[in-house]
Amino acid sequence: MICLSGFSLTVSAQVKSDLDLPWTIKELQNRIDSCESKAMVTLGTLKNYKRSPRTIPAGQIHWDAKPTGGWTTGFWAGILWYVYEGTGDAKIKKEAEQFTEEIKTILDEPVRSHDMGFIFNSSFGNGYRLTGNQAYKQTCIIAADSLSHLFNEKVGTILSWPAQVRSNLYAPHNTIIDNMINLELLFMASDNSSNKEFYRMAVSHADVTMKNQVRPDSTVYHVVVYDDMTGKAIRKITHQGYADNSVWARGQAWAIYGYSMCYRETGEDRFLQMAKQLTGAYLERLPEDAVPYWDFDDPAIPNAPRDASAAAVAASALLELSGLEKNAAEKLYYQKAAEKMLRSLSSPAYWSGHQNDAFLMHSTGNRPKNTEVDIPIIYADYYYIEALVRLKKILLSEKKN
Ligand code: GLY
Repeated sequence: MICLSGFSLTVSAQVKSDLDLPWTIKELQNRIDSCESKAMVTLGTLKNYKRSPRTIPAGQIHWDAKPTGGWTTGFWAGILWYVYEGTGDAKIKKEAEQFTEEIKTILDEPVRSHDMGFIFNSSFGNGYRLTGNQAYKQTCIIAADSLSHLFNEKVGTILSWPAQVRSNLYAPHNTIIDNMINLELLFMASDNSSNKEFYRMAVSHADVTMKNQVRPDSTVYHVVVYDDMTGKAIRKITHQGYADNSVWARGQAWAIYGYSMCYRETGEDRFLQMAKQLTGAYLERLPEDAVPYWDFDDPAIPNAPRDASAAAVAASALLELSGLEKNAAEKLYYQKAAEKMLRSLSSPAYWSGHQNDAFLMHSTGNRPKNTEVDIPIIYADYYYIEALVRLKKILLSEKKN
C-alpha cells in the first residue's frame, strides 16, 4: 500500500480490474480517431458557424446547437482544436478556425459574466497554442481585459454573475468556484502583454477563494457572496449543488483543475498543496467506477444521476497535476487515477458509441432546476478529449525517456 494525502492505493499485488488497465498510445489514438469520426458527423449536422452544440436532449441523436453567446460557446471550437491536435487533420483545423472566428462577436458587447475564460481559452487560446496566430493572441488579451472589469479590489475576486446581483441572495458580490477556470485567460494575457495587473488579479482571486470557499475538509462551496465594501464573506451557498453544505461534484472538479493550473502558472507551492488536498477529498468520495454522482451528498445515491462532465474535468486536471508533481509515487498516483477515470468514461457505460453524436453520455448540468440532467453536454466532451490528448503526450514522452 502507498498512502498519499490520507487515501490509499493498492498496487500490483492485487488483481487489477479492467478500469485499472494502463492505456497504450495506440488505444488512445484509436479513441481520438473515434472522436474525430463523431466530430465529422456533427459538422455535417450543424447549419452554420453561428451556432454551436450544447446538449443532446433525451431521445435525440444530434446536438441541439445554441447561438453564440452563452458560457459553453467556445467548447465546440475547442473540441475541434483538440481533434486537430490529436490527428493533424487539416480539414478539422479549417473548421476550428471558422467556429473560433465567430466567437469574437461576444467582444462587441460589455462583459456579462466571468465566463470569458471558458469561452475564449477553449477556442482562441487553443488556436493560439497550436498555430501561433497573433490575431488569436490579441483576441485573448482583449477578452482578458474585458474580464478584468469584473474584478473588485475590495473583495479581491472577480464578480462571477453580474446579472444575479439583482437577486438579494447573490448581491452585492458573488464568486462561484467555476470562476477558477477563467483565471487561465488572465495568466495567458499577462504572459503575452505588458499588463501584469492580469497576473495580480488572478493570484488575488485564487488566494481569496482558497480562504473563503474551501471548507476544512477540503471540499468547496459553490458560491460565496461578499460584502463589496468590506470584502467580508457574508454567505456560503449553492446554486447547482444539492445543498449549501453538500459537495457538488463538478464544483470540486473545477477547483482541482483551477488550483493545478494556478500552480503551473505561478509556481506557488500553496496552490499545489491546495490542488492535492482538493483531489484527496474528491477521490475518497468516488464510487467504484470513478465517475461521480452529480453531488456526492445526494441522499438518492445510488439512484441519483451521474455527472460524466465532472469526471472528464477531474481526469484532465489530474493529468496536469501529475505532470507538475515532483514526487515520483504521487505523480504516478495522479496519472493512474486519471487513467482509470478515462477508462470508465470510454467504456460502454459512458461512451455513446452509435447511440448519438456525442462522445459521452450521462452528464448533469443543473439538477436543482432539473435542466440538462443525465444527457450528453458539450463541456464533458471538451474535457474528455483534452484529457485524451494530454495522456497521449505523457505516454509519448515516457516512451522517449
Ligand atoms: N458554470 C459552469 C458549470 O455549470 O459547471
